[in-house]
Amino acid sequence: MAAKRLEYTDTAIENLKKGAFLTVKSGDKINTMTIGWGFIGFAWGKNLFEIMVRKSRYTHKILENADEFTVSIPLTNEFKSALGLCGTKSGRDIDKVQAANLELQPGRTVSTPVIKGNMLQYECKIIYRNEMKGDFSDSAAEKACYEEGDYHTLYHGEIVDFYKEDQNV
Ligand SMILES: Cc1cc2nc3c(=O)[nH]c(=O)nc-3n(C[C@H](O)[C@H](O)[C@H](O)COP(=O)(O)O)c2cc1C
Repeated sequence: MAAKRLEYTDTAIENLKKGAFLTVKSGDKINTMTIGWGFIGFAWGKNLFEIMVRKSRYTHKILENADEFTVSIPLTNEFKSALGLCGTKSGRDIDKVQAANLELQPGRTVSTPVIKGNMLQYECKIIYRNEMKGDFSDSAAEKACYEEGDYHTLYHGEIVDFYKEDQNV
């Protein structure tokens, strides 16, 4: 079956730069962290959302035992303070969903929830993951982002569902 046409991708990227919620789940543990980097694209015959999570994150720990994730990209400024909290506090220490006054909404297709609200919702199944190593072609970029060696792991998620608010797109 042909991969579904992804509407709103330009809007998604522009808003992702301001912060989005990456939600992960393993057993009964659910955590949300803010992300600002990511890729939406097409490979292996699938629509993909690629996220980058540093090894130091609690989210990284949960992803070791997860095979899906969701990304909820706010379309308004309403979630600015929640994005700040979820991007500075760790789920190791607090329940960020509660602390940031966020509401979870069940995923339509995956078992990981999304964050309820005026957002673009991406539900993804991880199909490939790879750990970055220090082999940058651009040494200035490496120095700027990885001086302490806290490299990202890249998770390539097949977008198995995508919607805006409650409407199908
Ligand atoms: C705007 C913004 C964007 C961020 N983007 C990322 C990202 O793409 N990858 C990442 O590993 N951390 C990113 N962070 C940092 C994490 O959100 C932050 O370290 C968070 O506290 C980790 O939470 P956790 O320990 O519960 O996983 C970002 C933070 C902010 C404020």
